[in-house]
Amino acid sequence: MSFRILPVGQSAAPIVAALSVAGWRETYAGRVPDDYLAALDRHPKHDVASWRARMGDAGRPSWTYVAERGDGPVGFVHCRACEDLPGYRGEIWRLYVLRRAQGEGIGRALFDAATATLTAQGRAPVMLWVLEFNWGARAFYKKLGGREIARHSFDLAGVPTPEVAYGWPADGTPAVRAP
Ligand SMILES: CC(C)(COP(=O)(O)OP(=O)(O)OC[C@H]1O[C@@H](n2cnc3c(N)ncnc32)[C@H](O)[C@@H]1OP(=O)(O)O)[C@@H](O)C(=O)NCCC(=O)NCCS
Repeated sequence: MSFRILPVGQSAAPIVAALSVAGWRETYAGRVPDDYLAALDRHPKHDVASWRARMGDAGRPSWTYVAERGDGPVGFVHCRACEDLPGYRGEIWRLYVLRRAQGEGIGRALFDAATATLTAQGRAPVMLWVLEFNWGARAFYKKLGGREIARHSFDLAGVPTPEVAYGWPADGTPAVRAP
């Protein structure tokens, strides 16, 4: 099925929030506590209000694209200034394609839209964080040329959860090396 990648603004916050919640529930079922996922649409970091604020935050520039097919919105990417890894200026913060639309090139198209925008905005090199157990996404990022550059752990639903950072350094040399 053909698709389009569309830049969206704050008014699309309800669509982006719905795609994000659906993506989390599909991807992390069985890995993140059920009650956390069930209440995700009301969580202060996931609800529509949080997306509206994030997408309109003048203090932290960000860009969002939605993938749309004939059957509606099926994925999105949200990218922004990188603030936590020295040497990297842009971050892909969320990239989700609904399961029914995976494997059709939409993830790559969203990734390309984000990296092209970050680069045009002077925000290369680009990095992102991915949950360590998310082997599918890690294989995808590796396929797209990403290299492991760092690791950390953060609190997710009360559980210390390891994450891996992937980077696409402009000159081919990671600025931060994985331990
Ligand atoms: C990971 C994800 C974004 C990939 O999007 P997608 O639309 O399914 O991927 P594409 O069809 O664009 O694939 C691009 C390339 O990556 C490869 N690829 C995609 N998923 C892969 C996987 N799980 N394992 C290995 N390779 C994979 C494809 O084979 C393709 O390679 P090709 O061009 O040589 O054929 C999507 O599967 C997804 O949203 N997953 C759930 C949410 C998630 O984990 N998001 C990331 C959170 S950090």
